[in-house]
Amino acid sequence: MDKVRIGVIGMGRMGITHYSIINTHPGVEMTAIADTSGMMLNMIAKYLPAVKMFTDYKDLLTSGLVDAVIVCTPSVMHYEVCRMACEQGISVFCEKPFTTSPVQAKELADMFEAKGLVNQVGYVYRFDTVFAKVKEMLDKGLIGKVSHTAVQFLSSTISKPQKEKGWRSKRENGGGAAYEMGSHAIDLMEFFFGAPEKISGTMMGQVYSEAVEDIVDVQMSYKGSVGVNIHVNWSDYTYRKPMLKLDIHGTKGKIVADLYGYRLFLREADEAAGLPGGWTSVPMNMIPDPCPFYVRGANFTKQLYEFVDAILQGRRSGGCPFREAVDTQEVIHTIFRNGNVTA
Ligand SMILES: NC(=O)c1ccc[n+]([C@@H]2O[C@H](COP(=O)([O-])OP(=O)(O)OC[C@H]3O[C@@H](n4cnc5c(N)ncnc54)[C@H](O)[C@@H]3O)[C@@H](O)[C@H]2O)c1
Repeated sequence: MDKVRIGVIGMGRMGITHYSIINTHPGVEMTAIADTSGMMLNMIAKYLPAVKMFTDYKDLLTSGLVDAVIVCTPSVMHYEVCRMACEQGISVFCEKPFTTSPVQAKELADMFEAKGLVNQVGYVYRFDTVFAKVKEMLDKGLIGKVSHTAVQFLSSTISKPQKEKGWRSKRENGGGAAYEMGSHAIDLMEFFFGAPEKISGTMMGQVYSEAVEDIVDVQMSYKGSVGVNIHVNWSDYTYRKPMLKLDIHGTKGKIVADLYGYRLFLREADEAAGLPGGWTSVPMNMIPDPCPFYVRGANFTKQLYEFVDAILQGRRSGGCPFREAVDTQEVIHTIFRNGNVTA
């Protein structure tokens, strides 16, 4: 295959972002878009006349115009869209959260593996410059055996009482801080430590939302007695942009990281790695990480290029495969089962 023909299903905020990014890949031809919004369809007709438009995604999937789709509909629809894409032999990049049910998530992972189709969920922080570097340091054992990690994911997404009730205000549609933000933090821990062995100490709270949680706290343990504590708050009005922060403690040192850079503390110099004892601070822009095109963040470009390159090279994607997203889905649903929402 010289070019991957790609369609976008759901041309809202993320659909537009992904379209603009992947349209720059030399091995891609953008062929189709499906959306139900009249305003969006008018815009596409005006600015992208060569792209075929559909109001029903099923017609896009059976059109024969696409080898792969990027699924950016409201989260509750991910399952039905991915399922039909698989039946049509179409590879899928699906936005997060993967589905709204672990049973559906597992079914999709099984289906795509059985058909050998490339599959990836948009857990984009795996591709973040700083967090990819943190993963590299952990894999090299720079801080020794990890004992504990504290994760905070904070934003001002919902910073006043909600008058307009979009899909994000209902859990059954995939709304709420656990699905929208917690899923990213949980996936990042899966990326570092694998699937959790135990999930406990769950608490959910409301600040401005009526039907979903604004705050999530959960404690988990991973293989090798790694304890993880996650705190998510999408009603923290002190953050203009979302901020994900990590504190990782090990027997030989500690890593403190956020989206702007990392600080590494080593109890003793690591001569093999060329690192001194004590603190080493590295801002994000000092970490070499070339990116061919930049919209919203290099990690958004890298995850989509990885998806397309996997199709072109006939290999499994190096991003988050559906199978690993099943684990994250299980964790989220355990949080829902265990956690009381307190107003
Ligand atoms: N990775 C990230 O950081 C990130 C950030 C934001 C959103 N997301 C995820 O991306 C997905 C989309 O979020 P968004 O913010 O773009 O939402 P959005 O509401 O802006 O866009 C959704 C689009 O889907 C369209 N749509 C609705 N029903 C449809 C149907 N039956 N067929 C085709 N199109 C349909 C809507 O008209 C809209 O244009 C969600 O799953 C969300 O959780 C991920």
